[in-house]
Amino acid sequence: MLNIKSKRPRSGTTIFSVMSALAKETGAINLSQGFPDFPIDGKLIELVNRHMKGGQNQYAPSAGVFELRERLSDKIRESYSHKYLPEDEITITAGATQAIYTAITAIIREGDEVIVFDPAYDCYVPAIEYNGGIPIHIRMNGPEFRINWSEVKKVVGQRTRMIILNTPHNPSGSVLTAEDMLQLQKITDSTEIIILSDEVYEHLIFDQLEHQSVIRYPKLAARSFVIFSFGKTFHITGWKIGYCVAPGNLTEEFRKAHQFLVFSVNTPIQHALCEYLNDRKNYLQLGEFYQSKRDFFRSNLQSSRFKLLPCRGTYFQTVDYSAISNEPDTEFVKRLTVDHKVAGIPISVFYKKPESNNFIRFCFAKDEDTLKRATDKLNLI
Ligand SMILES: Cc1ncc(COP(=O)(O)O)c(C=O)c1O
Repeated sequence: MLNIKSKRPRSGTTIFSVMSALAKETGAINLSQGFPDFPIDGKLIELVNRHMKGGQNQYAPSAGVFELRERLSDKIRESYSHKYLPEDEITITAGATQAIYTAITAIIREGDEVIVFDPAYDCYVPAIEYNGGIPIHIRMNGPEFRINWSEVKKVVGQRTRMIILNTPHNPSGSVLTAEDMLQLQKITDSTEIIILSDEVYEHLIFDQLEHQSVIRYPKLAARSFVIFSFGKTFHITGWKIGYCVAPGNLTEEFRKAHQFLVFSVNTPIQHALCEYLNDRKNYLQLGEFYQSKRDFFRSNLQSSRFKLLPCRGTYFQTVDYSAISNEPDTEFVKRLTVDHKVAGIPISVFYKKPESNNFIRFCFAKDEDTLKRATDKLNLI
């Protein structure tokens, strides 16, 4: 037997896989993992078919199909008034996850410190650690989950190489404000710190709030990898396709790693998305679409014993269950799944040092019937 010394001995299966498997095994409604359960637009499927039949079945250029990068350059300029060059500043990736891993691999060396805000999406820390980096965790606490910038100021030092942001934020549904961005700008000014801004939920923002992309702030954009996911925007999480935009000097380093991680991303889907993006309605209506799901889910739970936390973006609703139980959240979600047939995600698993809290997250990217059946069950608890 080989003696394999694991590089991550304590890394288990992600909570998303664990809870989805438990939901399947127990026949529970799965509001745990973040994926839609409704059909995607048939037009998009037709476009992929057409490009497959038309012969777009071989390797795409490593940076991505040029026309798609051109279209994305326009889309970003229209949204955030900043132009990224399709030639040197936009790269198509196999989902946001690959883009995040690639950006971290391109920059982080042994001993570099990377600031992450807990609760943090689960792929950041492993990517930092595989590259010898040191995650520096800063807590955001519920119910508001705001960043405490004076704490950030205290931990920034010579070894800080990167700060990872995520807005709108998974798992809390909070969003960063213009004031947050100005604070970040102040802290990073005249440093060599690089920002990785995970903005996969850019279009899922509610109540007329404006998404505060780092791209809107030229000084921040100049030091940022900004990462997006078509999976979230077009309900196609299983297609695993996204993109990273960054100034030329950062993109150059990104592409050095990208070419050896995947080389390129599947061709017919890139051509299909390029055409699909021509109709702006396909993404500009997304906020409204998910806001009505959020409102439906929240109003159905209004008289339940779950306390609803603010949800300003993403398709996640976090709830406080302290009126129901004082079990740890990891136990409570399991019992909820097994006994009450609704699966969620415990928030504590997104922290380095989980403290007891009473928060769990539900995904409302589901059709109305699923949400109704789930909330009927939750109302009985
Ligand atoms: C905050 C955040 N970043 C990145 C990802 C990964 O996106 P993709 O499926 O495109 O890799 C997710 C998926 O849930 C996410 O919630």
